[in-house]
Amino acid sequence: MLKEAQPVVSIRGVEMSFGHLKALAGVSLDLEQGACTGLIGPNGSGKSTLVNCLSGLLSPSAGSIVFEGKDITGSSLRSRAKTGLARNFQNLRLFDDLTVRENIAMSAGLAGGWKRASEKSVAEVGARFGLEADLDARVGDLSWGHRRRVELARVLNGEPRYVLLDEPGAGLDLSERRRLPGIIAELTAHGVGTLLVDHDMALISDVCQRVLVLRQGQLIFDGPPADAFRDAAVLECYLGERHVSA
Ligand SMILES: Nc1ncnc2c1ncn2[C@@H]1O[C@H](COP(=O)(O)OP(=O)(O)OP(=O)(O)O)[C@@H](O)[C@H]1O
Ligand SMILES: [Mg+2]
Repeated sequence: MLKEAQPVVSIRGVEMSFGHLKALAGVSLDLEQGACTGLIGPNGSGKSTLVNCLSGLLSPSAGSIVFEGKDITGSSLRSRAKTGLARNFQNLRLFDDLTVRENIAMSAGLAGGWKRASEKSVAEVGARFGLEADLDARVGDLSWGHRRRVELARVLNGEPRYVLLDEPGAGLDLSERRRLPGIIAELTAHGVGTLLVDHDMALISDVCQRVLVLRQGQLIFDGPPADAFRDAAVLECYLGERHVSA
């Protein structure tokens, strides 16, 4: 019998409260290495909060997070980035006064020198996002779509071991969004798993074999994307109970 692969990330009973609001109400799940897992749910369902807890930006009110067998629940964003758990931000966090080249190279600093930001690697990863002509431009002077691409290039330049992508396509035009499946497939081909938060079910269905659905901080579905929109609880949370029973 084949031994089951160890999950790369294990989340157990994670809760996150903001005052009286429980943004995550006891989430438990395992994430597989080398695969893209989708994470969907209506606005405010807790997707970014879960990414924030996983990446160390927030410290969960309860529960545990294990990455590659190590309990990282209390460790910082920086130390998680060093271990190879990388993320982007739904609302971009770039250094506007620095150039594209400098922003992409920053991933090496985040990763604690684990990857040297050679000129070559920055230029290569920049080219994968169509940024060849912009490497010396100041990031603050670029359009939102361009800046989003700089952010994704920075994530990939750090040679992450697992990537948390919170709405990576937000603000990108159609041709820019078309790059995403290729980038994710490339990560998967190199054995790097991804958690992909997106509202675009076509993208999720294209790149994920598994999708997780959050509603009001609780996991209500875990299975193939094709089954998600046949699931009564998922339909109810997106369309309302009246439409499901009609
Ligand atoms: N720092 C915070 N302080 C207070 N409330 C917060 C904070 N961050 C998130 N929330 C609340 O927690 C809930 C979950 O928010 P979250 O941003 O995780 O949702 P989301 O699923 O990512 O939504 P969207 O699809 O709009 O990005 C929401 O009600 C939100 O208002
Ligand atoms: Mg969000």
